[in-house]
Amino acid sequence: MLKGRHLIEPGNLSIEELDNLFSLAARIIDDPQRYSQVCRGKVLATLFFEPSTRTRLSFEAAMLRLGGSCLGFAEPNASSAAKGESLADTIRTVSCYADLIAMRNPKEGAALLGTRYSEVPVINAGDGGHHHPTQTLTDLLTIKSIKGKISGLTIGLCGDLKFGRTVHSLAKAMARYPGNRFVMISPPELEIPDYIVSRVFKPSGVSYTQVRRLEEAIGDLDILYMTRVQKERFFNEQDYVRLKDSYILDSQKMKLASPDLCVLHPLPRVNEIAPEVDSDPRAAYFRQVTYGMYVRMALIMALLGCDTEFVEELGLRKQAAQTSEIPAGAPVSLRRKRGSK
Ligand code: NCD
Repeated sequence: MLKGRHLIEPGNLSIEELDNLFSLAARIIDDPQRYSQVCRGKVLATLFFEPSTRTRLSFEAAMLRLGGSCLGFAEPNASSAAKGESLADTIRTVSCYADLIAMRNPKEGAALLGTRYSEVPVINAGDGGHHHPTQTLTDLLTIKSIKGKISGLTIGLCGDLKFGRTVHSLAKAMARYPGNRFVMISPPELEIPDYIVSRVFKPSGVSYTQVRRLEEAIGDLDILYMTRVQKERFFNEQDYVRLKDSYILDSQKMKLASPDLCVLHPLPRVNEIAPEVDSDPRAAYFRQVTYGMYVRMALIMALLGCDTEFVEELGLRKQAAQTSEIPAGAPVSLRRKRGSK
C-alpha cells in the first residue's frame, strides 16, 4: 500500500508498486468516468518554486479529474518565500490545508527536506538537477504502453545528461529492469554524473556506452530520450550558448532510425527536436504528456488511499491466478517453487 508515503525518487517504489500504478493508470484510461469522484473532498497543494507547465498542470488536472480540489502557487514570488519564509515553515503551513503536496524547488534535496516538516505525503515534482520521479512514471508508462515492455530495450539518452533530472530518474528506474542497455549521447561537458555510473549502472550490471554524435547511435535504439540543455543550471551564459544546440533531431536523422523507434522528450523542447519530426509516427512526446496525467491520477489515488477498491480487485485477481495455476492437490514442492525467486 502506498497510502501516506512520500515519493522523492524512483527507488521509493518497488517494481510491484510500479506495476500496480501502471495497471491502475491503464484502468483509468479505459474508464475515466468510474474514477471521477474517488478523491472527492481531498485537496492537493502544488507548490512550485520553479517554472512548470506540464508537471503542475497535469497534477492539477489529475486531481480535478478525480473529483478533488487544488490550491497552491506557481512561482515563489507569489508566496511568503518572497518575504524570506523558510521552506520548513511553508511546508508546515500547507500541510495544515492539504491532504497531499506536490512540490518543485531549484535546490537538490528540497523535497526530502519537505518530508521532515509535512504531516501529509510529499511528491517531488523536481528538485534542482537531482530527480523528477513523476516524470519517470510518465516515461515508463509511455514506454510500456507503446513497446509493451520496460525491459530488454536499448535506450538513447541525448542532450544535457549532467543537469537533466528527468534523465537521472529515468536511468535509475530503467536500470532495475532486466536487459536494458543505455547509450549516452552528450558533449563532454554534459555527461551523466559519475554517481549514476558508479551507484546505479555498475552495481546493477547494466550495459552502457557513451557517444558524441546522435547519427552514430540512432540506428541501434528502441527509445530515443531527447532533452533540453538546462539553461537555468549553467554558471555562465557563454557555456550555455555554446552547448545549447549540440543535438537537433530532424527528419534527416530520423531516416537513420529503426521504424520501431520511439522518440520521447519530457518537454519543454527548445531547438532539440525540429517541428517537422512531430508528424512522424515514431514521435511519442505528446502522447507522453497524456500518459503523464493518467499516471499522476493513479499516484494521487494510491498516496491518498483512494485506491482500495482497485487494490482489493487486484488481490482477488492474483489469488484467482494462483489458484488456477496451482491446483489444490499439487505437490508441496511445486507450491514452494512458485513462491521462490
Ligand atoms: C522537465 C523538468 O522540469 O525537469 N520538464 C518536465 O517536468 N516535464 C524537463 C526540462 O525542464 O527540461
